[in-house]
Amino acid sequence: MQSKRTRLDRFISKKTGISRGSLRPLFAKGMVSVDGVVNRDTQYVIDEFSKVSFDGEELQNNTPVYIMMHKPAGVVSATKDEQHKTVIDLLERPDKNTLHIAGRLDLHSSGLLLLTNDSRWSSRLTLPEKKVRKVYRVTLANPLTDAYIEAFAKGMYFGFEDITTRPAQLKILSEYVAEVTLEEGRYHQIKRMFGRFRNPVVKLHRLSVGNLVLDDSLPEGQSRELSEYEVCHIS
Ligand code: URA
Repeated sequence: MQSKRTRLDRFISKKTGISRGSLRPLFAKGMVSVDGVVNRDTQYVIDEFSKVSFDGEELQNNTPVYIMMHKPAGVVSATKDEQHKTVIDLLERPDKNTLHIAGRLDLHSSGLLLLTNDSRWSSRLTLPEKKVRKVYRVTLANPLTDAYIEAFAKGMYFGFEDITTRPAQLKILSEYVAEVTLEEGRYHQIKRMFGRFRNPVVKLHRLSVGNLVLDDSLPEGQSRELSEYEVCHIS
């Protein structure tokens, strides 16, 4: 999700229907305030958490929200879906429709899913160049061999995107179970990587994102807000 930074006059114009040209004298009169302070700078840049009032009326007053969910398999990582229950449907919060997903999981994957209304925070977690580690426990249909470790570490070329995956760490936990650490999250990445070995993924569970580990005590389908410390120290 793109950061929601925008120019103050553009934002007010969109909200009120007053043209930017007509807003200029109103700015000069001191009719605009940001975070409780009169602001006469039409080009001032705000984000989704700037508190904006115009002529005494509040136009925006959002509180940042950060949520950890234990996503069950069979629920779709989307805000709307015609066929399946979505992760948003699992939430019981009045603000749930303002949230977006910071790093999706496939329909049949489970584990740690993050939801927020803070697009800068979610971009920091999801952009491949930020290299935030995501750890998955993967159960395979066929036995694992040491050849997987090298192939994952070397990276694999994905023709569709014309990229080579970043070095990924694969630890063999048992004959059919591996722990995979990725620094990026390409489309169906883990399934496609095991697909190179013609080894179907039977179960895929995300254990952590950056420093944040899914709570053991959080049952499937449940969620909780992150602490300020968790929000700030996730990567
Ligand atoms: N890789 C996948 O293939 N699926 C996921 O849900 C996450 C990573």
